[in-house]
Amino acid sequence: AKITYVEHDGTEHVVDVADGLSVMEGAVNNMIPGIDADCGGACACATCHVYVDESFMDKIEPKEDMEQTMLDFAPDVKETSRLSCQIKVKPELDGMVVRMPESQH
Ligand code: FES
Repeated sequence: AKITYVEHDGTEHVVDVADGLSVMEGAVNNMIPGIDADCGGACACATCHVYVDESFMDKIEPKEDMEQTMLDFAPDVKETSRLSCQIKVKPELDGMVVRMPESQH
């Protein structure tokens, strides 16, 4: 699925991420800045925080408790905040836009 990653300064990166990978892996594999992913996808660091485009919020799996707990540690959390390592890419997410926060710490 094509995912558009938007850096905090507005720089856009459109990449084709294979289904089954996480949105975080799609960014890291393509060296897109703005997602640190310190824990490598274990839902234990909250440095893969992104804002999901509202129109896709109902297409992704809802947050599990662990993700919510970690998000509580992230700065500038909003309604649309998610940890990108917990979002699995699938065909329905084609065209999704995720925006990176100003900082992951
Ligand atoms: Fe650490 Fe997502 S990569 S919580």
